[in-house]
Amino acid sequence: MKPLRVLVLLHPDFMPPDSRAGFSEQEINVWKTEYDVVSTLRASGHEVRPLGVQYELKPIRDEIENWKPDVVFNLLEQFHGEPAYDQNVASYLELLRIPYTGCNPRGLILARGKDLAKKLLVYHRIPVPAFAVFPMNRKIKRPPRLQLPLIVKSVSEDASYGIAQASVVDTDEKLLERVRFVHKRVGTAAIAEQFIEGREIYVGVLGNGRLRVLPVWELQLDGLPEGASRIATEKVKHDLEYQERHGIVEGPAKNISPELRERINNMTKRICRTLELDGYARIDFRLSADNVPYFIEANPNPEIAKSEEFARAAAHDGLPYRALLNRLLALAINREKALE
Ligand SMILES: Nc1ncnc2c1ncn2[C@@H]1O[C@H](COP(=O)(O)OP(=O)(O)O)[C@@H](O)[C@H]1O
Ligand SMILES: [Mg+2]
Repeated sequence: MKPLRVLVLLHPDFMPPDSRAGFSEQEINVWKTEYDVVSTLRASGHEVRPLGVQYELKPIRDEIENWKPDVVFNLLEQFHGEPAYDQNVASYLELLRIPYTGCNPRGLILARGKDLAKKLLVYHRIPVPAFAVFPMNRKIKRPPRLQLPLIVKSVSEDASYGIAQASVVDTDEKLLERVRFVHKRVGTAAIAEQFIEGREIYVGVLGNGRLRVLPVWELQLDGLPEGASRIATEKVKHDLEYQERHGIVEGPAKNISPELRERINNMTKRICRTLELDGYARIDFRLSADNVPYFIEANPNPEIAKSEEFARAAAHDGLPYRALLNRLLALAINREKALE
């Protein structure tokens, strides 16, 4: 790919240093994605400017007008500290007519609501767990059709925020307690879903019209303590020491028959089309004991650090990190061209 000017939008707290030397693993973990993207794009020959963005759009516009980047690498996951505003940043870039990596604003909106995405997918007969939403300040009562055990989550937050072992509830009292916890501590409506006992499966996708589905990836949770639910809690996802202690590793999913793989691939593509996702995305499933892949959530613009599941699955599929980032830039530019 010819060298490009790449403006990298990121949260100012995650502005990466020029080198990792002298930082602890926990410290690096905070800005490793930003570091990986900026350093790898530079190593790939691009001219790269990272820009911290949190409360103001004007710096984005100024950089685009003055520096004239060819493309924006969008690593922003929030604006004003609000994750749901990620779509507004993508909209702004769209209106500025600058190519940007990752998902378009419509896909970001459709995928965000864990309830909305599931409602749309039911229409396309994708298996989804039964669920109910509990808005703030309303009576909390389990509809009789919804059987325990359930898992209670924020309807809109991600990164396992607010997810702990106590999120899985097997009585109405615990349900009430956990819904209140989500309302109070996370500050959003709660969704209670049928708890799918089984394996934790992630599937990466790349592309705009034509989609490339990456190998099925699995988060191994068998090392969790006896009696603990096999779920990706906050600790499982973010606590390096905890991951090591419980042997939490991820890798290509084993013992998936070719038929099941084909089914998961087709489902993944249908999900992306239904939710209008483009750029890159990761679809999360729970694979039940009888091998039914249940849709759990769609993550447009998933974590793209070199060591995390998406990039590892791409590398496993013959797309090493540098090539992957270049592919994301090319997808951004091609999408913009297709509009002209
Ligand atoms: N319906 C479900 N059945 C079983 N486990 C679930 C279910 N929903 C979520 N989980 C577990 O909780 C984790 C986080 O839920 P998810 O909906 O992906 O939220 P987040 O956006 O915070 O990642 C999942 O990775 C999975 O381990
Ligand atoms: Mg998730």
